[in-house]
Amino acid sequence: MSRRDDVSERIAVSIEPWGEGDLALLQKLMGDPEMTKHLGGPESDEQITERHARFLRLAEEGSARVFKIVLQASGEAAGSVVYWERTWRGEPVYEIGWEVLPVFQGRGIASAATKEAIAMARSDGKHRFLHAFPSVDNLPSNAICRTLGFTLIEECEFEYPRGSFMRCNDWRLDLCMGS
Ligand SMILES: CC(C)(COP(=O)(O)OP(=O)(O)OC[C@H]1O[C@@H](n2cnc3c(N)ncnc32)[C@H](O)[C@@H]1OP(=O)(O)O)[C@@H](O)C(=O)NCCC(=O)NCCS
Repeated sequence: MSRRDDVSERIAVSIEPWGEGDLALLQKLMGDPEMTKHLGGPESDEQITERHARFLRLAEEGSARVFKIVLQASGEAAGSVVYWERTWRGEPVYEIGWEVLPVFQGRGIASAATKEAIAMARSDGKHRFLHAFPSVDNLPSNAICRTLGFTLIEECEFEYPRGSFMRCNDWRLDLCMGS
C-alpha cells in the first residue's frame, strides 16, 4: 500500500493558540537541521527566543494566528501552523506555514492542522487570499497545498530568510470559495 493510500495511521489533531510554554517545541522545530533544510537552516537559540516572543506579540496584536498542533489522544505537541498578514505583489494577503516534528510525520498531521487553520483564516473574513511558498523541492509541503485546494500560480524567487533567496512555488487559496 502506498503512503498516500494508507489512511489507517492518520491521527486526530487539534490546533491551539501558541503559548508562553511553547518555547521548547519551537526549539525542536527551528533548531534542527533536518526540519529547517527548506527554511534556510537551523536558527540559533537567540533567534528562536526572538521568534517565540514575536509569535506571542503578533498574535496579541492580531496580525498573525500562531497555533501549536496537538495530538488529541495523548495531548502531545506535534508541530505548528501559523498564518500572518503580508503584502504580496502590492496586495494585502495572508501567508501560511507549517511544521511537524519528524517522529509524527507521514500521518496526515500537517494536512489536518492546516485545514483547521484555513477554516480560521476564512472565518476571520479579513483577506481574500491565503498564500503558501514552499520550496519547489519540498515535496510534502507542495502536496499539502495541492490536496487542500490551493492553486499553483507560478514558480518564483522568494526571499527567506531575509537576504537569502530560494526557488519556491506560489500557491494561492481563495478563502471566498468553498468552506
Ligand atoms: C512539510 C511537513 C510539515 C509535512 O508534515 P506531515 O505531517 O508529514 O504531512 P502529511 O502527513 O499531512 O502529508 C502531507 C502530504 O505530503 C505527502 N508526502 C509526505 N512525504 C512525501 C514525500 N517525501 N514525497 C511526496 N509526498 C510526500 C503525503 O502523502 C501527503 O499528501 P496527501 O495528503 O496527498 O496524501 C513536514 O515534512 C515538515 O515539518 N517539514 C519541515 C518543515 C517544513 O519544510 N515546513 C514547510 C514550510 S512551507
